[in-house]
Amino acid sequence: MAESTIFHLAADLSHIHTDYLWRSKGCWEGYPYYGAPDLYEDCARLAARGVMDLLFFGDSANTSENHGGDHHAAVQYGMRWPKHDMMPLVPLMARAAKGVGFGLTMSTTYQHPFHVARLFNSLDHVTGGRIAWNAVTSAYKNEAANWGYEEMIEHDERYVKAREHMEVACALWDSVEKDAIVFDKQSGIFADPNKVHLINHKGKYFNVRGPLPVMPSPQLRPVLIQAGQSPAGMDLAATFAEYQFVSRTTIASMQKHRAKLDELLKAHNRGPRDLGVFWSIRIQVADSEAHALEKERAYIDSIPPQAGLIELSHMYGLDFSSLPTDMKLSEVAAAVKAQNVHWGSFMEAIETSDPTMSIGDYGRKNAIGRTLALRGRPKDIVDRMEEIHDATGRNGGFILAKGIEVPGNLRDFVDYVVPELQRRGLSKAKYTGATLRENLN
Ligand SMILES: Cc1cc2nc3c(=O)[nH]c(=O)nc-3n(C[C@H](O)[C@H](O)[C@H](O)COP(=O)(O)O)c2cc1C
Repeated sequence: MAESTIFHLAADLSHIHTDYLWRSKGCWEGYPYYGAPDLYEDCARLAARGVMDLLFFGDSANTSENHGGDHHAAVQYGMRWPKHDMMPLVPLMARAAKGVGFGLTMSTTYQHPFHVARLFNSLDHVTGGRIAWNAVTSAYKNEAANWGYEEMIEHDERYVKAREHMEVACALWDSVEKDAIVFDKQSGIFADPNKVHLINHKGKYFNVRGPLPVMPSPQLRPVLIQAGQSPAGMDLAATFAEYQFVSRTTIASMQKHRAKLDELLKAHNRGPRDLGVFWSIRIQVADSEAHALEKERAYIDSIPPQAGLIELSHMYGLDFSSLPTDMKLSEVAAAVKAQNVHWGSFMEAIETSDPTMSIGDYGRKNAIGRTLALRGRPKDIVDRMEEIHDATGRNGGFILAKGIEVPGNLRDFVDYVVPELQRRGLSKAKYTGATLRENLN
């Protein structure tokens, strides 16, 4: 349960090479390439310097073939491709920096809950209690084909499977009681068998006997994060999640989201403070508005004109290259829904944009504007963050998301924005807890 009302701070390191950032001057400057371990260790040190709570890795294990019917556009432009498995970087980063926590994504559709539960227990031990699991249902096409499925499971059914998955994972983390390990060298007793339980789960998707053959970890279970935005996704978050990642571009839409979440939490006998929200933002900070706009222009100029439609194809599973660019957003809605992918965020797009906007214009807008951009001097950025935080119940914080140039953007945030946040008492000046969950409180 998060009691404090200060800002929690996170950064999403999932897309630091894709989304055309590989073209950008500020990306991985001084490092050989985006996968270099030194870069991530330095990011962890930077984040710890800014007393940030979380560095996050998203994941989707696919190569998009949606645009033009093959993998060429994704590969040619480096659009969400390639995607390494970032898990091995977490222990390295945890050794490099104290305090900051790490979020890792694993799929409830394709990964087995026994594997997920065991791996996150190990990561919790290795990081000293600083790990979070972003549980996703995997909405991208082609992931199914990589994991051996003929077809993608239907949207709401993926959430049925996710619910069972998370129930099993939680039961496994609970299967060894906190004080089960006794280590009594005198009597030769290692652990108390009465405190270690089979779970004997037999369900629609999983059969798991248990117990989890592990020692309880510092947090007992990872901090649970869920980012589904559809009605089924929101309901899953309201059942299990401690934090949610949410992308919204207007305060009205954030408030609507928060109100919906609070209503669902109530239905699950939980309160608003049981689930905090990290709102996605992108920042361009400089000593003047004009300089911030210059930086923004350099970022926008690095994005090729084709990007908008390629991204829409990737995200919404439809081949936007085959549609007339003057087609209206509202005219493609039914076709997008039928793709069975990210319906939640398309619904949001229609509600917050002009539904008569052409898909060409929307694509261009979406490529740079899906994440709320805050530009200006540190004071201007913090004013806006404070406005959002106040308007949404001071319950969570912000994640630097899509479009983040590292290390440049992260360093600017830590060196210019964080001091202003700390000066106003809005974010922590030091880590207060030993674990991620305690720091997020
Ligand atoms: C900030 C943010 C980060 C996300 N990260 C991932 C991710 O790493 N992998 C993934 O498959 N989906 C990711 N998602 C997508 C959601 O988890 C969810 O699968 C998607 O919104 C589709 O579900 P829905 O139809 O319930 O909205 C992310 C969503 C948001 C808003």
